[in-house]
Amino acid sequence: LRGRSLSVTSLSGLPQWEVEELPIEDLLLFEVAWEVTNKVGGIYTVIQTKAKTTADEWGDNYFLIGPYFEHNMKTQVEQCEPVNDAVRRAMDSMNKHGCQVHFGRWLIEGSPYVVLFDIGYSAWNLDRWKGDLWEACSVGIPYHDREANDMLIFGSLTAWFLKEVQLIHVIAQFHEWQAGTGLILSRARKLPIATIFTTHATLLGRYLCAANIDFYNHLDKFNIDKEAGERQIYHRYCMERASVHCAHVFTTVSEITAIEAEHMLKRKPDVVTPNGLNVKKFSAVHEFQNLHAMYKARIQDFVRGHFYGHLDFDLEKTLFLFIAGRYEFSNKGADIFLEALSRLNFLLRVHKSDVTVVVFFIMPAKTNNFNVETLKGQAVRKQGEIPDMDNILDRDDITIMKRAIFSTQRQSLPPVTTHNMIDDSTDPILSTIRRIGLFNSRTDRVKVILHPEFLSSTSPLLPMDYEEFVRGCHLGVFPSYYEPWGYTPAECTVMGIPSVTTNLSGFGCFMQEHVADPTAYGIYIVDRRFRSPDDSCNQLTQFLYGFCKQSRRQRIIQRNRTERLSDLLDWRYLGRYYQHARYLTLSRAFPDKFHMEPTSPPTTEGFKYPRPSSVPPSPSGSQVSSPQSSDVEDEEEDARYNEEEEAERDRLNIKSPFSPGRVPRGKKKLHGEYKN
Ligand code: UDP
Ligand code: G6P
Ligand code: GLC
Repeated sequence: LRGRSLSVTSLSGLPQWEVEELPIEDLLLFEVAWEVTNKVGGIYTVIQTKAKTTADEWGDNYFLIGPYFEHNMKTQVEQCEPVNDAVRRAMDSMNKHGCQVHFGRWLIEGSPYVVLFDIGYSAWNLDRWKGDLWEACSVGIPYHDREANDMLIFGSLTAWFLKEVQLIHVIAQFHEWQAGTGLILSRARKLPIATIFTTHATLLGRYLCAANIDFYNHLDKFNIDKEAGERQIYHRYCMERASVHCAHVFTTVSEITAIEAEHMLKRKPDVVTPNGLNVKKFSAVHEFQNLHAMYKARIQDFVRGHFYGHLDFDLEKTLFLFIAGRYEFSNKGADIFLEALSRLNFLLRVHKSDVTVVVFFIMPAKTNNFNVETLKGQAVRKQGEIPDMDNILDRDDITIMKRAIFSTQRQSLPPVTTHNMIDDSTDPILSTIRRIGLFNSRTDRVKVILHPEFLSSTSPLLPMDYEEFVRGCHLGVFPSYYEPWGYTPAECTVMGIPSVTTNLSGFGCFMQEHVADPTAYGIYIVDRRFRSPDDSCNQLTQFLYGFCKQSRRQRIIQRNRTERLSDLLDWRYLGRYYQHARYLTLSRAFPDKFHMEPTSPPTTEGFKYPRPSSVPPSPSGSQVSSPQSSDVEDEEEDARYNEEEEAERDRLNIKSPFSPGRVPRGKKKLHGEYKN
């Protein structure tokens, strides 16, 4: 360990890292985040999918620190005793002094150790810790901001824990402002740890964008203190900014957020760490196509029920589109999506298209349960099947048949939402639907369904988990205005489902940089940066309309291409940026022990996925291959296409730009990994 030299080099063209393995016996890595075992949004996905790569590198020296919630612990964590002496001592000491610290293995791939603090149990210390924070950086937290107070408790417990660990070399990486006070207090107390602060967004960026301000053209013009004050987030912004400036190394998830951070937080990130996924290959290359067909059938079942009495469209010619994520109406681009859907509805109608589009909005909002009409739809579908005429023998059967027919009649239109919304009249999605008049009427070619809850396989209504649902859909639509990375389109990509993203999302910019013709690969990038909102909306409409004009065969080819990009998003390669950040912080925190030359971060600049060699699936030339062919013939055609695509893949020999070969293929389904 001592006197070791780390050399990280980046050659022109393909990136390379020549890093000597760190002997890590006496070095511990802690990663701290509010979303450890606790799902809120994308930060959970970062931590959960990255765990395997990090655990492979760090083994038992890797620990995640998060908040304790009884339900999460019961469902996701296997409790055990820490083997590491330093960690056990630290826990014992805290537990003796009125804290409750839980320990176990998180049941995800990589099975990392987790240290979870019970926030409520230690709340009695809050006033003292407010004083400590004030001493450290003169930031005060108002009484009424419950969330910020919880974060201070979390941070204070983290700093306490890190102090008790008492080892010579520790790296602690803190994610987002919620974990930041742990970093501030550790530094104020001069704990001998190498720190990294990673931001996944800036507080001000999120707020200003949500207020429909022309953010990107005014980055250097905001009076940021004033803006934070006016939005009542001054204290949170101070916690965030202090964390950034206290860290040895500051990182963020995309180039676009790096620029934002420079303006909103006044520090240029040292390293950009693009977000990856845990990509696993199926042994059969086209398994993901089969899964699409299988899960699509499940969505079709749901749609049969939801539209009962109004099912006058052909489900075989119906495309399923969706948007999903935390409910930030304009930041996530739900506003422009709805507007584009209204234009698409018009286009499909005037061109007398036989395609129907069913669009799902999966965005959690306050509800009190499913609505009766939606439940009834599913009940009718399950119970109201009309008996086979050949087997009708007696009066009872006729009665059953009549009841079934009556029950499938309905007075109202199929509902635009599945739940009773608490804020029905002011809800932005519902209000827009009312304004543009997309009410699921018979003449609408575009139908909408708001599902204001994350998906779950235990739901009585749509019993599918999110991954299954995505696989069953045709296109994910994420036209975000504010999106530091944006996991949702990335997840679509590794599952071989095309998606729409924007040049204001970290993911969209990353793909634009690394793929020569993203559209041909099923990555539609809406320009929300250099066009007016109306032009962006038109561009989105054209993407959607073009997608609707594709034949089934073109969709299959496009899915194959989309899936090919997944290596680009694998943590096995993108994990190197995190590695670099760790080396950098060691060299800054312990310069006499760790040297690093040169200090420029790894880069993927200069690499581009080539244009696909076969003809692009151009919507304009779209013709269904054999309109009269039977289903069996169609299936055979599809299989042939799959084989052709496979041959093209081999011919191009497309591998990850990061050089290692394709990852081993496995079949076992594990939580938190994506197989394609
Ligand atoms: N997600 C989910 N269930 C759903 C819808 C979304 O688990 O029903 C997840 C999705 O898989 C993704 C995350 O929510 O990983 C959203 O992350 P993203 O980076 O897109 O946005 P954020 O919420 O962090 O702004
Ligand atoms: C997959 C299956 C095919 C099926 C197709 C439907 O490729 O392997 O058997 O025909 O999906 O595609 P679509 O885009 O119409 O849902
Ligand atoms: C944030 C961002 C999102 C990003 C995620 C993970 O919540 O809003 O764009 O994907 O963090 O980095």
